Amino acid sequence: MWSYPEIAGQLIPKSVRILGIFVIICAIAWWISAFFLVSFILVLWGSLRKLKGLVKTEENLDIYQENTESRTSEIITNIKTVKAFANEAKEYQRQRDRLEREAKVSLWGIHIGYVKLGMARDTVLEACQFVVFGAALFATFGGKMSIGHFITISTLASMAYSEIKPICLLAEVFARRYSSMLRFHEFMKQSDGQDAAIALHTDTKYPQYRFDGKIEFRHLTFGYDRDRPVLENIQFTIEPYETVALVGRSGSGKSTLVKLLFRYFKPSGGVILIDGTNITELDITGYRKRLAIVHQEVDIFNGTLLDNLMYGNPTATFEEVQEACAIASVDEFLSLLPRGYHTIVGERGVLLSGGQRQRLGIARALLVNPDILVFDEATSSLDYESERSIQLAMRRIQGTRTTIIIAHRLSTVREADKIVVLDKGEVVEIGSHQQLLSQGGIYHRLHSLQESGELL
Ligand SMILES: Nc1ncnc2c1ncn2[C@@H]1O[C@H](COP(=O)(O)OP(=O)(O)O)[C@@H](O)[C@H]1O
Ligand SMILES: [Mg+2]
Repeated sequence: MWSYPEIAGQLIPKSVRILGIFVIICAIAWWISAFFLVSFILVLWGSLRKLKGLVKTEENLDIYQENTESRTSEIITNIKTVKAFANEAKEYQRQRDRLEREAKVSLWGIHIGYVKLGMARDTVLEACQFVVFGAALFATFGGKMSIGHFITISTLASMAYSEIKPICLLAEVFARRYSSMLRFHEFMKQSDGQDAAIALHTDTKYPQYRFDGKIEFRHLTFGYDRDRPVLENIQFTIEPYETVALVGRSGSGKSTLVKLLFRYFKPSGGVILIDGTNITELDITGYRKRLAIVHQEVDIFNGTLLDNLMYGNPTATFEEVQEACAIASVDEFLSLLPRGYHTIVGERGVLLSGGQRQRLGIARALLVNPDILVFDEATSSLDYESERSIQLAMRRIQGTRTTIIIAHRLSTVREADKIVVLDKGEVVEIGSHQQLLSQGGIYHRLHSLQESGELL
């Protein structure tokens, strides 16, 4: 594909040439130059109009393709559910339909469209050339034009008309690239576009921050949609090295608060300060490098256990890996793996249990030595035994860095320095386990429900 300077580099000399020819023809016979000009404009205008329609069809094809691609990756990710509902045949048929629709549009709408456009344009150009030739010939026979002028005009006209085709092709290249460029800009403008921008600048230098890990949420307000706030006036402080638990019903906004801390979204009101600095003033890559999160589902890449552990920090030493594995209780199951650290895990190797994945996730996060570590429901889907072992890991981490633990089961958070209770996007209680129990509020109620086994 050509770049814009190349397109301009072709377009400018061609236009100058046509202009020059036009001036010469005008000097010899103005009425031929008038026809020349009109035919020129009409062909260009017609081609561009048709081209616009074709580019629009191409855009639609892009949308179809994106749809098919996202559906494909969705089916692969959710293959367990697809199989469980015995929907393979249905998904297969739907995928076939989508691909057929794409093939139809791409062949009939686009490919044939360009062929027809080219054919129509060339035919009109040939006809125009003959009209000029015929008119000049007629004038020569009538004694209104010399043989010399006749030869000059017919040669120049055929030269000029033969330049229109490349100009139309350049317009085609330009139009197609322009539309994809517009789509790219649109994509970059989306709220997650900030992430796309980071991904594109992976090897640029970013500042190396170091934080004590004091986090202040000040009058923080946010909603995914403008008219439905998810967080309202969140106000509390986490001291350096403190372990703070966020609890509250599902949907109360805990994960959203963490997303704002990671700057995945911009708050609609209020600020988050880290060590007294507004996080939006920091370089986003440098800032995020100092944070780590362990999600409920830990992603495992195909490769060895060691590859997976070192994913966030490829330069970690073996001692550092061992240390992180000891803290995260990875060493508890290491000896069960056939080749220890070098065992292939993931789809193509040993499948790790939920608890093992969690511990791997914690060790991976620890290896980047973050100033702030977040656990988002890390123990929620685990059996009692695994939960105990993760709790042990959390206890070992407590006090070494600022830690935020989001947990569903209150047994996980009772040892936190501070518990923040969220309800419907607002902070309703803050205090230690004992303080909150004696207050007799929401935390107390949740606690009694869980103790009696009614709510797990
Ligand atoms: N990406 C999103 N787009 C729109 N709404 C969302 C999104 N993520 C979460 N929500 C909504 O925001 C509210 C809080 O969600 P979340 O922070 O995930 O709660 P929690 O983690 O406490 O269970 C919920 O009502 C949820 O439906
Ligand atoms: Mg959540």
